[in-house]
Amino acid sequence: MERYVIKGGTPLVGEVEISGAKNAALGILAASIMTDETVTIDNIPDVSDINALLQAIEGIGAYVERVDAHTVKINGSGIHDFSLDYEYIKKIRASYYLLGALLGKYKKAEVPLPGGCNIGTRPIDQHLKGFRALGADVRIEYGSISAEASRLEGTHLYFDVVSVGATINVMMAATMAEGTTIMENAAKEPHIVDLANFLNSMGANIKGAGTDVIRIKGVPRLHRAEYTVIPDQIEAGTFMFAAAATKGDVTVKNVIPKHLEAISSKLMEMGCQVEESDDAVRVYCKNKLRNTHIKTLPYPGFPTDMQPQISVVLSLANGTSIVTESIFENRFKYVDELARMGARIKVESNTAIITGVDRLSGAIVSSPDLRAGAALVIAGLAAEGFSVVEDIVYIKRGYERFDEKLRGLGAEIRQVTTDKEIRKFQLMSEAV
Ligand code: EPZ
Repeated sequence: MERYVIKGGTPLVGEVEISGAKNAALGILAASIMTDETVTIDNIPDVSDINALLQAIEGIGAYVERVDAHTVKINGSGIHDFSLDYEYIKKIRASYYLLGALLGKYKKAEVPLPGGCNIGTRPIDQHLKGFRALGADVRIEYGSISAEASRLEGTHLYFDVVSVGATINVMMAATMAEGTTIMENAAKEPHIVDLANFLNSMGANIKGAGTDVIRIKGVPRLHRAEYTVIPDQIEAGTFMFAAAATKGDVTVKNVIPKHLEAISSKLMEMGCQVEESDDAVRVYCKNKLRNTHIKTLPYPGFPTDMQPQISVVLSLANGTSIVTESIFENRFKYVDELARMGARIKVESNTAIITGVDRLSGAIVSSPDLRAGAALVIAGLAAEGFSVVEDIVYIKRGYERFDEKLRGLGAEIRQVTTDKEIRKFQLMSEAV
């Protein structure tokens, strides 16, 4: 089993290049099949979620050429299959974006129902509500969602819940509907804006992305495009909190500082210095951090995907902090692992009460999901002694070359598979 072995206690210092945004790239890659011409997308992150979606896109018959680790060419003209095999949705939930893309272009699609995952039940009722509002006949049977329409007609839709996935999926379906669609209570994340910009570069007519009202004038067809995905604000935030946890001095490069405002302001509230420039943010923290309170919210609020990471840092801050998870119902599974490193956290329903401690101690911990796994690596980097983080397959879904980038900042971390390698790492670390 692949694991990270970490020797904690070294402040992270230096610069780190941030990769393209996984959650923007997933929507953009799905949308790229909506034209019969070739689309070139670069700055995609080389992570397993992206590679899984590209396999799904190839699986329905599109032409996929991986130009390099971060660039792909896609041509959807050869698509012959409007139904996706279960194996793809099992690998990555976001394959359900092909529902909106195929329905939008071919007026028919069938995708297996995505299961829940480690952070909650993950319903998709708002996606289906949007497809039905556009005139599609949507049925759930035999474990699959099938959507079909003789024609899709623009509609005025109000989402009951702010949903990134539903906003993305319905935006794609509406892009080639007849007439105008207005989506109210839409998600405003940077990756929604990125998808809208990408679709517009293919000839779509989408206005208002980034606000809670998005207007889409349907177009009969889309054309070729070349597009660059925005930087990943969650990867950037993860490194910013790693700097804070290790009392380091880290500059995250190739970022859009505006996308990081909620994260930067919390770090400053906790006593870190944060300096912004055009495409970089520097975080340095020399003093003991102060406690604060967090409630995760849709963008531009504090992102739920940063909740485990800030909780690790707060477990080392002075005083008691309260973290409320308002988006997902089961996103504190890492707390038991963190407690094994000496953190003092009490979870009551969707709130964690964190009493800061002076130090964490290394331990063997297991990643319950993508962001919690990254947070446990941060804990290992801050802890005294050695830690082993298991089940890093989750982490590799959304973080490209995570250990390599951390080593570039001075971290003592290695990916290993055997106990012998762990012992060798420990001997080498102690020898230094
Ligand atoms: C996206 O998930 C991200 N995934 C998640 O990131 C992220 O945590 C989440 O947005 C919130 O920002 C991708 O982009 C691939 P939602 P998504 O629909 O679209 C409820 C990561 O770590 N809801 O915005 O599934 C839902 O239960 C992942 O990269 C409905 O009730 O999230 C949740 O409470 C983890 N009905 C809330 O809305 C629906 O039809 C927000 O979910 C859809 C959602």
